[in-house]
Amino acid sequence: MRKPIIAGNWKMHKTVREAIELVNGLKRNFFDEMEIDIVVCPPYTALSEVGEIIQDSQIRLGAQDMHWEERGAFTGEISPLMLKDLGVEYVIIGHSERRQFFGETNETVNKKVKSALKHKLIPIVCVGETLVERERGDTFSVVREHIENALVGVVIEKPRDLVVAYEPVWAIGTGVNATPEQAEEVQGYIRELLMNLFGEEIAEGIRIQYGGSVRPDNIEELINEKNIDGALVGGASLDLNSFTEIIRRVETAIRKH
Ligand code: 13P
Repeated sequence: MRKPIIAGNWKMHKTVREAIELVNGLKRNFFDEMEIDIVVCPPYTALSEVGEIIQDSQIRLGAQDMHWEERGAFTGEISPLMLKDLGVEYVIIGHSERRQFFGETNETVNKKVKSALKHKLIPIVCVGETLVERERGDTFSVVREHIENALVGVVIEKPRDLVVAYEPVWAIGTGVNATPEQAEEVQGYIRELLMNLFGEEIAEGIRIQYGGSVRPDNIEELINEKNIDGALVGGASLDLNSFTEIIRRVETAIRKH
């Protein structure tokens, strides 16, 4: 069985003080060894402080994006070396908000994924269709294009080197999550695509998260699906109680298996 991975994408939320408060709460709630990987992705400004707090815990540190170069004249950007320096282990790449508002393309996603892997950062590669694309019947072709172009020429040594997040754009921040059946249908397809790229053994072990309006009341039915190996949580990860509850429910669900 694949070890579930629950990540909180805080997006552009939390001052340093607020971030410290939230992560201290999380740390208090998760002191036991658990069969779940927990990742928090604060804004860059809080990475250092959050990283120090979780150093001696099982919570891992993630960033929300990065540039592919190690250094250079790229005003406003952050490099993989800078992230490594702060103890970052995961990096979200190709989030739909980056694609929609900041000109991210499959080509830049591909460069970032390769750079992340080279620097031993685990990319969380986001893919997913918009509502218009779904209604047009293009969900599978869009997801295929995202996966194949984002991962062209990518070599991984082991399944844990890469995480994929299926985030249908119409489910992000809308309160309308994909049904477990809808998510599983696409995530099963993503696993087939990963098999073509990396072979069966590696593809079987790659974790595929679902993201889009994940809450305590819907996580259990989602995580019970075969190809849903965790969640990338936005809004509900900003609140200590709801993020804690999501993790607890995943724990309960896997104990039942
Ligand atoms: P919400 O959970 O707020 O819908 O956001 C999902 C997301 O974009 C996580 O990356």
